[in-house]
Amino acid sequence: MDSIDPGLKVASHALDPLSPAEVAAAAAIVRRTHDLGAGMRFETIVLKEPEEATSGDRSAFVSTYDIATGNLFEAIVSLSDGIVTRWTPRPGARPRIAPDEFLLAEQIAKADPRFVAALAKRGITDLSLVCSDPWSCGVFGHADEEGRRLIQTITWVRNRPHDNHYAHPVEGLTAIVDINRGEVVRIDDYGVVPVPREESNYSARFQPTWRSGLKPIEVVQPEGPSFTVDGWAVEWCGWSFRVGFTPREGLVLHDLKLRDGATVRSILKRASLAEMVVPYGHPADVHPRKNAFDCGEYGIGVLANSLTLGCDCLGAIHYFDAVVNRIDGSAQVIENAICLHEEDCGVLWKHTDFRTEETEVRRGRRLVISFVATVGNYEYGFYWHLYLDGTVELDVRLTGIVNTAGLTQQGETGRGTRIGPGVVGHIHQHVFNVRLDMEVDGPNNTVVEVDTVADPPGPENPWHNALSILETPLLTEKAARRRTDAARMRWWKIVNRERTTALGHHPGYRLVPHSALRTPAAPLSQVGQRAGFVTHDIWVTPTSAEERWPAGDYVNQSAPGQGLPAWTEQDRPVADRPITVWHSFAHNHVVRPEDYPVQPSVHCGFLLQPFAFFDRNPTLDIPPATSAHSCCA
Ligand code: CO
Repeated sequence: MDSIDPGLKVASHALDPLSPAEVAAAAAIVRRTHDLGAGMRFETIVLKEPEEATSGDRSAFVSTYDIATGNLFEAIVSLSDGIVTRWTPRPGARPRIAPDEFLLAEQIAKADPRFVAALAKRGITDLSLVCSDPWSCGVFGHADEEGRRLIQTITWVRNRPHDNHYAHPVEGLTAIVDINRGEVVRIDDYGVVPVPREESNYSARFQPTWRSGLKPIEVVQPEGPSFTVDGWAVEWCGWSFRVGFTPREGLVLHDLKLRDGATVRSILKRASLAEMVVPYGHPADVHPRKNAFDCGEYGIGVLANSLTLGCDCLGAIHYFDAVVNRIDGSAQVIENAICLHEEDCGVLWKHTDFRTEETEVRRGRRLVISFVATVGNYEYGFYWHLYLDGTVELDVRLTGIVNTAGLTQQGETGRGTRIGPGVVGHIHQHVFNVRLDMEVDGPNNTVVEVDTVADPPGPENPWHNALSILETPLLTEKAARRRTDAARMRWWKIVNRERTTALGHHPGYRLVPHSALRTPAAPLSQVGQRAGFVTHDIWVTPTSAEERWPAGDYVNQSAPGQGLPAWTEQDRPVADRPITVWHSFAHNHVVRPEDYPVQPSVHCGFLLQPFAFFDRNPTLDIPPATSAHSCCA
């Protein structure tokens, strides 16, 4: 009991993320009753979210493994009682690659004489300048990789300390590292390609001059923000929700509700990024093995940044710290990981009556709840937006550094873009999948597909202008594996068929898929096999606490077909019950020279918009306002 914090406090709400003391206590309780010995590591220590928010129990989900045997176990820990209440072996499961293992993989590679010799063949002898990134391996049928937990290193080399090493890819050299045993399994040397040595730096220390003429733009909120925060609960302009955070998903929104007159109406029970995958489209050497699942294989939450006031976030900011676990079971606090603030977002609505010349205009604003994760060379910003008119938006920003490769002599045309002398950025996609536990006006929801189509010409359509709105309820899981159809302007609405509004509609929210493009990956590719969620733009399942991860519970070196493709084979009913909508969307990244050496943010995401949820525009009561700080230039 010695390592359990005696000051373990009871959380104020059942959905509050684990505190640092609770993380440490959960590890200590598991160690006390199920000690795996010196090789014991902790993949995940996270709140076991209660089925009922009123539950007084406080439990943790723990995934722990032994690097000596590779065995992995899941535990449910009652923090209230100090005991393990469930202990489940998960044979064959491989834990995520932890941040603690990133530099370890590089050290293991650099300690191997075969790797050192392969670098020397390329004229690289100063190992301090060598940067080997820790990539997940996937499953490629090599006999010597079987049963191991692997990291493949992909290598770059600096010209000098602090220069951008991604400008200097060491093409054609990979160390396959057994991260559990701390050894190199194999060196894959695909042949020497000259290392491009021209520098391409982005950091301030290398910028020779600054442009002039940029006057400050300051966000002024003289009376403070319009939101209130109580622990992890937030209220803003009629909206209410709870903030959560997990090592694998990062930011979670719980119990999102909106006040409508005297009533508070539910919209989402829980929303999070559940998975993402980045497949690369080059068929040779190491490149087919680049299919990073940044949630399932790394954990997008554990990679969250500490944000900087006035740089990352402007205005009146509330920060939440995130608590994650290290692989030794200790807690790590990521300070200022989640940013909460308001933004002006232009005109909300406007009209001028041209007869009376009376003008009404209201400014819009949004609440932004966000975090940014660094995954090796890349940054992902996840910005949930709540708007005054009831709209919910997820805006994903992609920035950072493209995964550079060395230009080989085989010719790269059609596989990517030359972005520097000897440097190429290959075609790839970033495919995201969000898990949306819907709760529109109550627990029982149904998804309806809505198409807009032209009617055939005929006596009913003499001028060939007739359009019809076709509504198709999606009643079972297989019927609800759907794709967008641009020719039919397809979208989906999530409705509550147990309720009818004064106008005779079932209240709903529509999912507007901004970025629902799929990777064209073939069915037998790693992505086709291990990331089946990419094959449809939406999926609908009955909400289940056991079905959290669209590509399976353990994605690192996973077997094919897990998650959404397997669950939905049951073809369960998904109408008029608690349902989860899974939406896949993507950024197709044909690399531009302008993305290099550091990429200006690009966006993808989706909207959830009220559709007959209200009987009219719900923002008529937004008061007119004039900014006292605006002036004529
Ligand atoms: Co990209």
